[in-house]
Amino acid sequence: MPTLNLAPASVADYRRLAEARLPRFLFDYLDGGAYAEVTLARNVRDFERLELHQRILRDVSARSTAVTLFGSELTLPLALSPVGLSGMMARRGEAAARKVAGAFGVPYCLSTLSVCSVEETAAAGSGPLWFQLYMLRDRGACADLIGRAKAAGVSVLVLTVDLPVVGTRYRDVRNTMSGGGNAWARLRRGLISYALHPGWALDVGLGGKPHVLGNIAPYVKGAATPADFSAWANASIDPSISWADLAWIRAQWSGPLVIKGILSPEDGVEAVKAGADGIVVSNHGGRQLDGVASTISMLPRIAEKVSGQTRLLVDGGVRSGQDILKAVALGADAAMIGRPWVYALAGAGEAGLLNQLKALQGEFSVSMALTGTLCVKDVNASVLFGPPLASN
Ligand code: FNR
Repeated sequence: MPTLNLAPASVADYRRLAEARLPRFLFDYLDGGAYAEVTLARNVRDFERLELHQRILRDVSARSTAVTLFGSELTLPLALSPVGLSGMMARRGEAAARKVAGAFGVPYCLSTLSVCSVEETAAAGSGPLWFQLYMLRDRGACADLIGRAKAAGVSVLVLTVDLPVVGTRYRDVRNTMSGGGNAWARLRRGLISYALHPGWALDVGLGGKPHVLGNIAPYVKGAATPADFSAWANASIDPSISWADLAWIRAQWSGPLVIKGILSPEDGVEAVKAGADGIVVSNHGGRQLDGVASTISMLPRIAEKVSGQTRLLVDGGVRSGQDILKAVALGADAAMIGRPWVYALAGAGEAGLLNQLKALQGEFSVSMALTGTLCVKDVNASVLFGPPLASN
């Protein structure tokens, strides 16, 4: 008897819903990774390879999944990673995500390259709002963006450092998402995908306008479509960024500063020296340098060098509450999810995202119980069986 599949239960279920609803080129942009997608797969697989250590008869009746991070009480050691163009996946997607995350009690991190501006996003809800910054060649625009984030009530600035240049994503090339192809091919792609996805076309394609990139719109002249904005962004992100620029950022921003995109223990140490209040162990969800190690395999090696000196976060491949437990066990203060929250929002709307977050909390709580832990600060490597695996 086949399963009825009447309600989504897992991240994989939300992924299927998103795939059915979104035009192919948007789903591929969200779902895909760089080059042959080796690292994308490795991120997920290395979480799966870690084995949890089941424990019994420990009175697990009183458990708490709550933590404090950068001065905010969180329901769960989890935050939503910045995902560019989310407002093309769901109607006013960034504002919607901020609303749901705030109501649930986890931080939402808004991308520089979002459809909704930081002002629109901030006004959509409450709770901790983080802002992700790409260093732009135009430092005046950068300083202005940071000032706008501060004025909007952003509590944490997240500087992404693993995209000084953009990795090629084969799916985007094939779909002419990253330019290329001729105008007729792009028009045909647009018309066909609108016709085949009327639910998305009416709700987001038409109803979710304007599709400008709200944060950067004031600094971009003559851009009309998301593609124009993406082209501007790709040309404007500053490849000359170096550790020396951290002092400049610090001069603009006095609140907690998190550096996202660290995959090497040495860079972790540098980030601490540069005064980072937090780091995100990340390979950009396998979208940048294909072939690098999974984030979960690098986490313990980075934690060994920086633990206690900065807050440690990790993203890339987190797909369940068990994965969040594994991340915390290996030294993370919190895990982050990118694609999963967008699958849920794109595939099943705000209710879908809220259900996904509740499900992740439930899985995390059950996993704590079955590994014999009662609160997040007691979660350590003893909930894992055997030594952490090297990525291969
Ligand atoms: C991203 N990511 C990202 N990161 C960032 O700092 N700024 C950004 O604008 C984006 N944009 C973006 C778009 C899309 C479609 C994806 C899938 C990802 C990376 C993101 O923040 C995060 O590091 C990864 O998504 C984590 O991996 P998982 O959870 O998707 O496996």
